[in-house]
Amino acid sequence: MNTARLAIAGGGVIGRRHACAIEEVSCANLVAIADPAPSVKGLADELEVSLYNDIGDLLEVESVDGVIVSTPTSSHFLPTITALNFDCHVLVEKPFMSTRREADTVIEKESVSRGQVLVGHHRRYYALVDKAREIIQSGGLGQLVALSGQWTVRKNNEYYASDWRKEWQAGPVLTNLIHELDSLRYICGDIESISAEISHSIRNWEKEDSAAVVMRFANGALGTFVLSDQTSSPWAWEFATGETPFFPKSEQNTVRFMGTRGALDFPNLVVWHHGEEIPDWNHVMKPAEICIELNDAYVRQIEHFCAVIDGREVPVISAQDAAATLRATLAVFESARTGCRVKV
Ligand SMILES: NC(=O)c1ccc[n+]([C@@H]2O[C@H](COP(=O)([O-])OP(=O)(O)OC[C@H]3O[C@@H](n4cnc5c(N)ncnc54)[C@H](O)[C@@H]3O)[C@@H](O)[C@H]2O)c1
Repeated sequence: MNTARLAIAGGGVIGRRHACAIEEVSCANLVAIADPAPSVKGLADELEVSLYNDIGDLLEVESVDGVIVSTPTSSHFLPTITALNFDCHVLVEKPFMSTRREADTVIEKESVSRGQVLVGHHRRYYALVDKAREIIQSGGLGQLVALSGQWTVRKNNEYYASDWRKEWQAGPVLTNLIHELDSLRYICGDIESISAEISHSIRNWEKEDSAAVVMRFANGALGTFVLSDQTSSPWAWEFATGETPFFPKSEQNTVRFMGTRGALDFPNLVVWHHGEEIPDWNHVMKPAEICIELNDAYVRQIEHFCAVIDGREVPVISAQDAAATLRATLAVFESARTGCRVKV
């Protein structure tokens, strides 16, 4: 196994998280960071790596196998294309891109580059997500009929200090709902159509404050999802899992999957079943908790990226796969704008 030489484009909040994950693994070394912000010099000094203004300049000088793109959402495209032009592998943060056209162009570029694209839907590296998928795909709830979920937080005022976080690309739909839709696609299968409403009633910025979404899955199941970044509530993935110390753990589950023979509370997995009883509303259901420790998804993600670079694995979240998640997420805006159901 070779040690992968990695660079980071975008040394902000999540860029730093990736740098920490790289320090935890033996398969990768961080070579350099590209970021035009003078404040990132501190991170580069701390990590004892070179700092460049631009990923193109960095790749002209440094020998790099893989680039992690963790720039603001509207700037994912150029660094990704640049890295592929240099035949580097790319781990690009979610959302994969901010438009379908950008996504298609990257997929085309990848097909003529020696580099492969892995998209940073990090939740897919959690064992509990795999377990939920296994329960549902194996018919553990009978036939999946419906699901209902929510992600409702109130982000702190400082979060919006950077102007890019007020743009539509940085709203909760493209920043947060995309995580949820990606997990739901992974667990339940593809989303066929989306109907949605969005609202700007609190902040009145370009980005939306909240959204309500209705989904039809290819397997016939229906789903609803409510999200907002302006609500004080204990119901969001981050609070449920305690994934990062920045967000206090509530342990409150956020998604319910309902099938013909049982139900599943998620992400802290609780399966509701009738046991030997007839599975109808006259018979008692009992909950069974499944305890799965939360692994470090960012570390697993870097290990997987190294395996992709080394040719031992293919990207578990390919550009095509992430483009399907992006299409479903962008359909929320289109449906809200047109008032019509959008085929994904
Ligand atoms: N996987 C996750 O759960 C997760 C979590 C947080 C953020 N993200 C995603 O990561 C991206 C960045 O988010 P963040 O919170 O770290 O933002 P941030 O504002 O904290 O950091 C972005 C950094 O990119 C730099 N930058 C801007 N343009 C650049 C360019 N062209 N080249 C190099 N650097 C550039 C900025 O100076 C800044 O330091 C967003 O797309 C966001 O959706 C994903």
